[in-house]
Amino acid sequence: MRMILVGPPGAGKGTQAARLVHDHGICHVSSGDMLRAAVKDGTALGKQADDYMRRGALVPDDLVIAMVIERIGKADCADGFMLDGFPRTRPQAEALDRAMAAAGVALDAVVLIEVPDGLILRRITGRRSDPETGEIYHLEFQPPPPAIAARVVQRKDDTEEACRARLEKYHSETAPIVPFYRDKGILRTIDGVGTPDEVAARITAALGGKVRA
Ligand code: AP5
Repeated sequence: MRMILVGPPGAGKGTQAARLVHDHGICHVSSGDMLRAAVKDGTALGKQADDYMRRGALVPDDLVIAMVIERIGKADCADGFMLDGFPRTRPQAEALDRAMAAAGVALDAVVLIEVPDGLILRRITGRRSDPETGEIYHLEFQPPPPAIAARVVQRKDDTEEACRARLEKYHSETAPIVPFYRDKGILRTIDGVGTPDEVAARITAALGGKVRA
């Protein structure tokens, strides 16, 4: 299975990706996680990306495309992958198409998780993650267990200001790639409002109930 998760910031892409990669036995390729790791490690890519990310702007296409295309060419992605947060612009979608055609593989599904803008800010500002396990929590919707509550951290771009900028970028740059995939007949649109279990069930049904035994 080769698939893409698309949706506004805070739609639940990371939350659902964790379940889907487990169910389908595929590798999880999150462009945001890769960029945050590069920033943390102080690599040349990380130094270039840091300012864009803090502001909630998009990291330039050439940097992100090279990073993701190289990643999905690795051996652990040979049997399938879940792209989370990529592509986010039309040039990224076209570059992915070319790379996959060159590799003789095709996308099986693009899952669009829709959540109204009014809910996004609450989801983003309440998000916390466990630096030791990478587990995602929410102060209100999915509170971290007491044993780890003191060590959870907030992302630098989860401020109200950066969230508004990210949402604007989503509508201007990312939403326009949706028709590109609809025209290919592989788009599955999911209502992202509800509990994570409810959303997961909708995605599984939209994918034809195909989960690993
Ligand atoms: P990235 O890390 O991709 O961030 P994003 O797309 O803004 O998405 P998020 O990670 O914020 O949200 P999510 O949808 O994964 O939600 P989550 O599951 O965590 O990108 C960050 C930055 O990197 C970008 O701004 C850009 O600068 C750069 N970048 C990355 N990719 C790029 C690219 N391709 N091109 C250019 N630049 C790029 O859930 C959010 C919260 O809600 C959590 O607290 C969770 O517990 C809670 N929650 C989840 N589901 C539910 C539910 N059903 N009900 C209640 N709460 C829920």
